[in-house]
Amino acid sequence: NVRKPMVAGNWKMNGSLALLHTFISELKASPLLDTVLCLPYPYLAAASKASFKVGAQDCSQFGAGAHTGDIAVGMLQELGATYVIVGHSERRQDHNESNIAVALKVQTVLNAGLTPILCVGEPLKVREAGNVNKFVFEQLQAVIDVCSKDFLEKCIIAYEPIWAIGTGKTASPEQAQEVHQFIRTEIVKWNHNAVSTRLLYGGSVNASNAHALFAKPDIDGGLIGGASLKIDDFIAICNAVK
Ligand code: G3H
Repeated sequence: NVRKPMVAGNWKMNGSLALLHTFISELKASPLLDTVLCLPYPYLAAASKASFKVGAQDCSQFGAGAHTGDIAVGMLQELGATYVIVGHSERRQDHNESNIAVALKVQTVLNAGLTPILCVGEPLKVREAGNVNKFVFEQLQAVIDVCSKDFLEKCIIAYEPIWAIGTGKTASPEQAQEVHQFIRTEIVKWNHNAVSTRLLYGGSVNASNAHALFAKPDIDGGLIGGASLKIDDFIAICNAVK
């Protein structure tokens, strides 16, 4: 396999410092593959010496300035973060982040030398209308327009169908593989080196369904929400990668 599998946890606005300390000690005792935990900003410093890699869940598109309440990528870097989730559907929905805003954030993260985990994925209505590929293509195209095709080999792409996030209704391994294969085909057309770009699936992944999802050829791991808050489940998911 040209791609090293990985599992990224996204705590969203959950957890506590106490839970983080449990994760730090439990994951130290259980060496895992490439594991990233994307934590709420206030917890990043406490994880700087953890055995896993650390990521943030968003950042400003700007490097610095008068942007009250926003966080610059350089600040994340100072705290040891090496990954940043960009364009999560909850940011797109709750904060009206457009495809263009997402693209500018990807560019900011790349310019700072961190790795963006770019999230794409369709709402249920789009799936029911049979327009999944078109929807996902447009989300990717918007980033390429701003960042050029080079970005495709420097990022991680997470396919997260919105109807599967936090709902317990995971995409079937076949449904997920179909979209991953489409994304793979398109990104390799744009940039041949994207054959080594990791594509993660996200949406109600748990300890029972992870193995079947990760066994698919174009699924290189997962972006895990709810189950990344339970240490035993998270370790089981990390151990389910091929
Ligand atoms: O970033 C993670 C995804 O939104 C998946 O969340 O595993 O709770 O469905 P979930």
